[in-house]
Amino acid sequence: MPEPIPATADALARLDMPLVEAMMTQRAIRRVRPDPVDDAIVLRCIELALRAPTGANGQNWEFVVVKDPRIKKKLQRRYRIAWRVFHRTSIRDIASYDDEMAKSVKAIEWQLEHFTEIPVLVIACLRLGARDGKVPFVPMPHAAASSFYGSIYPSLQNLLLAARSMGLGASLITLPLWNVTSARRVLGLPLDVTPCAVVPLGWPKGRYGPTTRRPVDEVVHLDRYGNRAWFGPRRTLQN
Ligand SMILES: Cc1cc2nc3c(=O)[nH]c(=O)nc-3n(C[C@H](O)[C@H](O)[C@H](O)COP(=O)(O)O)c2cc1C
Repeated sequence: MPEPIPATADALARLDMPLVEAMMTQRAIRRVRPDPVDDAIVLRCIELALRAPTGANGQNWEFVVVKDPRIKKKLQRRYRIAWRVFHRTSIRDIASYDDEMAKSVKAIEWQLEHFTEIPVLVIACLRLGARDGKVPFVPMPHAAASSFYGSIYPSLQNLLLAARSMGLGASLITLPLWNVTSARRVLGLPLDVTPCAVVPLGWPKGRYGPTTRRPVDEVVHLDRYGNRAWFGPRRTLQN
């Protein structure tokens, strides 16, 4: 049974969920109900997103909140094209033997089919020329690329954690934006604004289930890659 949709004040009060609990249970919730999400909740999520760091403190983010079904439909069409290609080339084989992936495929296909019924899509974008061009161009391609896209993802994680603590379903998706020119046209974005990710928001149809993630000892190296100083008896994170 899905949880009842909370009143706005109650949802906002849930933002005091302990940080560790929000982090440990945040996950992609793709099946959401068509019931509206109060603007105050969406704006609070974005307001908390804006506490995140950006390269050179450029704060060059822009968020387009899409509620118009005609725009959702256009993004759905683009998502469908990208998903067909991505599924065939990258996912289908894995899903044939990996149950987790097969479950994700079902959830993704549900989201794709119901895209226009999702109450809110938040499109996170970055403007070039942080601080109105006052932050100089960095002549170091890797650092520049990393700090450009790295200036949106911390804010998105804040947004996802805020949504999670309020019990709002959210996921981070990029495939609808595969054709950046076309995405700019659909959203009326100028050339210096790049759409980076879409976060569909809505009240969950189900519940937040557990996440599966790799254990810490498998991914940590001391000083140099390959020196697995902490590898061994599995360390379990406390909930
Ligand atoms: C950069 C990035 C792009 C993603 N793009 C998509 C996407 O286009 N469609 C989608 O359904 N999920 C997308 N995801 C979500 C991941 O598939 C999801 O976070 C991952 O499977 C873990 O799911 P879980 O949090 O439910 O365990 C993306 C995630 C990230 C970080």
